Amino acid sequence: MILLRKNFSLLLGCLAVTSKISILLPPSNFRTSLWLFTSKSDDPSPKTPFIVKYLIDSAGLSSSEADKCSKSLTHVKSPSNPDFVLEFFRKNGFTNADIKKIICSHSRVLCANVDSTLKPKFKALRDLGFSDTQITKLITANSLALNYLSYCNVHPRIEFFNNFIYSNDDIVRALSSNICLLSSSLEKTIKPNITCMRECQFSNERIGALLINEGRVIGRALNNVESIVKRVEELGVPRGSRMFYRTFRCLCRVNADIFDAKIKLLGSLGFSGSELSAILKQPLVFCLSAKNLCETVDFLVKVAGCELSYVSRHASMIGLSITKRLIPRHYVMQLIMDRGLLNKKIDFYFFVSISERKFLEKFISSFQQRMPELADVYLSASAGKFLY
Ligand SMILES: *[C@@H]1O[C@H](CO)[C@@H](O)[C@H](O)[C@H]1NC(C)=O
Repeated sequence: MILLRKNFSLLLGCLAVTSKISILLPPSNFRTSLWLFTSKSDDPSPKTPFIVKYLIDSAGLSSSEADKCSKSLTHVKSPSNPDFVLEFFRKNGFTNADIKKIICSHSRVLCANVDSTLKPKFKALRDLGFSDTQITKLITANSLALNYLSYCNVHPRIEFFNNFIYSNDDIVRALSSNICLLSSSLEKTIKPNITCMRECQFSNERIGALLINEGRVIGRALNNVESIVKRVEELGVPRGSRMFYRTFRCLCRVNADIFDAKIKLLGSLGFSGSELSAILKQPLVFCLSAKNLCETVDFLVKVAGCELSYVSRHASMIGLSITKRLIPRHYVMQLIMDRGLLNKKIDFYFFVSISERKFLEKFISSFQQRMPELADVYLSASAGKFLY
């Protein structure tokens, strides 16, 4: 009886609690909170999907990497195929770090069939003369390449690229940095774009250098060869000149927005008319950051006292480092002038642009007798310390 009553009061107590909750919370919240009460919150991994656990335990991914990669692998419920894939990569000389990198950027590779998909692709590259190290390097650097490595896709491309790129190491560098060299249509996109480069009178070696170092110039809708050529010509650089190639190469990294922004920035620094068009012929203006460009022009004009027209005529000065070149040489120049060591005015451009060896010879050693401390002064100024 006592027991019954105890149970009864317990039951009553429970009812009181639940009814209190149901008054305090709207029904939908009530359901969630009940669910919260009933779920076992002390279970460490109540529902970690198989594939997430697999990516962490077998492929060495961190849990956040595994979460991210698992999204394209939710259908994978068994380790058997992923195990084959991992084993295949390991047998082919990929390190654990390589494999992790590949999976993070191309997790679906774990679903690939080793015998019918992966093996033939590796064989294709070997048949084309690539070493195991080169293959590992390419696939680790650009794992999406795996999608395009069938012999019939790769063979004609390599044959074509060999006109411009002469070693497999360099082919690997080019393919690693730009998937489009494997994925874009050879006939419809790559060849016409390279014809366009030929029309600019670039030699095969230069075209090769562009493919290796500025791979992004192929395969981009907005920044393709034609549009870059158009911009270089707009700057007034003649085709076939050495400057044309240099400018072209710089503009490969600059999209239309940055191009326009740089022109505006130079305008705001005071360049206009013929001064603006002169400075735009120096491709460095497009490669330097806006901050660097502003600081350099500021220094040349406000500290070194150069006219804008002088800067635009000697535009290569803007590529010189402010701290390592402009400031220390300007400092030495002032000391030399102050001491009256030279009676004629030194041309600033000449003073900052000659090579280090010539500068030491002409302006430091030759004044050793009359100003022995100059060498120290110059060295310290180059390191950011000013002795006078
Ligand atoms: C060059 O490639 C781009 C895609 O990157 C394409 O839109 C363009 O038509 C190609 N140029 C030529 C001349 O075919």
